[in-house]
Amino acid sequence: MAKQLRSLSGRVVAITGGARGIGRATAAALAAQGARVAIGDLDAELTRKVAADLGPGVLGVELDVTDRDSFSSFLDRVIAEFGSLDVLVNNAGIVPAGDFADEADAVTARVIDVNLGGTLLGCKLALARMLPRGEGQIVNISSGLGRTPAAGTVSYCASKYAVAGLTDALRAELGGSGVELHLILPSLTATDMAAGAKRLRGMRLVKPERVAAAIVEALQTGRREVYLPRRLGWLIGLQAITPPRLVSALRRMLGVDRMFTRVDPLARAAYEARIAPPVAPPAPDPAATVARAAASVADALNGGAEAGFAGHQSHE
Ligand SMILES: NC(=O)c1ccc[n+]([C@@H]2O[C@H](COP(=O)([O-])OP(=O)(O)OC[C@H]3O[C@@H](n4cnc5c(N)ncnc54)[C@H](O)[C@@H]3O)[C@@H](O)[C@H]2O)c1
Repeated sequence: MAKQLRSLSGRVVAITGGARGIGRATAAALAAQGARVAIGDLDAELTRKVAADLGPGVLGVELDVTDRDSFSSFLDRVIAEFGSLDVLVNNAGIVPAGDFADEADAVTARVIDVNLGGTLLGCKLALARMLPRGEGQIVNISSGLGRTPAAGTVSYCASKYAVAGLTDALRAELGGSGVELHLILPSLTATDMAAGAKRLRGMRLVKPERVAAAIVEALQTGRREVYLPRRLGWLIGLQAITPPRLVSALRRMLGVDRMFTRVDPLARAAYEARIAPPVAPPAPDPAATVARAAASVADALNGGAEAGFAGHQSHE
């Protein structure tokens, strides 16, 4: 007998990175299923605009997944507006393209903070709200590059392998808790993130709507792990039982290591600029700090002398 699909109507769903790409498509697909949807994203204005475009019931909130207070208040706002948190989709992510040896430390740290740190934090904050109720669903967006590597995306692969690993481990820990985990592993998808990247030979770009439909299906059926396209899962599974030389030949044939090493820099420029780590305010110049301190001591001494003189005068 066919398994009954769970209805998503009325379910409360929070989606990180929901203002663009896969997140936005997922918000639209879930809203179409009757879910009450909230999107959180870095760009406050765009987030509110996209939420309004998606429909009158969709909530748009500024969110930085690397900031605990920001993430926590996003989820609290969702609960305040909609009454519960049934589903969290940890979708926010970034991928800088280029050789790892040349990657600035700040870029490496940002990839890990957003992709891995944001997902770990999202899981933790969602569990604090779901475990007491004994129910909930968490969807983590990894990537095909979370189970097979590609040159030019070393930090990204590290973060996405980790997202797959943390999902597996957390699922092992949560057995019987009522909270379910779903892992989504798309191949190159037609969003800003794929701008200027080289396609795999013989594989079309996945449409974000297709990823969104897979997320809807996973939530309805309880499916734990979904590759897009589905044959990507078979290919990755085959790797483990295929001689390494054959795997290398297959990877060369598909052009896996060209995807992010032969990018079109012009087509990618806007995306790379958008995901650049925020510039920290300049550190204070120690020489200027000492000079300022010396000036204020001198001021105090002068002022003190004047005050003393004035005080002396007033006594007379
Ligand atoms: N596009 C692809 O080829 C592809 C393939 C596999 C997996 N993925 C994964 O899918 C997810 C979505 O990617 P996309 O292709 O839709 O990219 P995208 O750039 O179109 O959208 C990502 C969104 O995340 C937001 N974001 C980034 N940092 C954030 C932060 N600190 N806090 C909150 N929001 C933040 C961005 O503002 C953006 O709106 C990512 O996790 C990505 O790794 C994408």
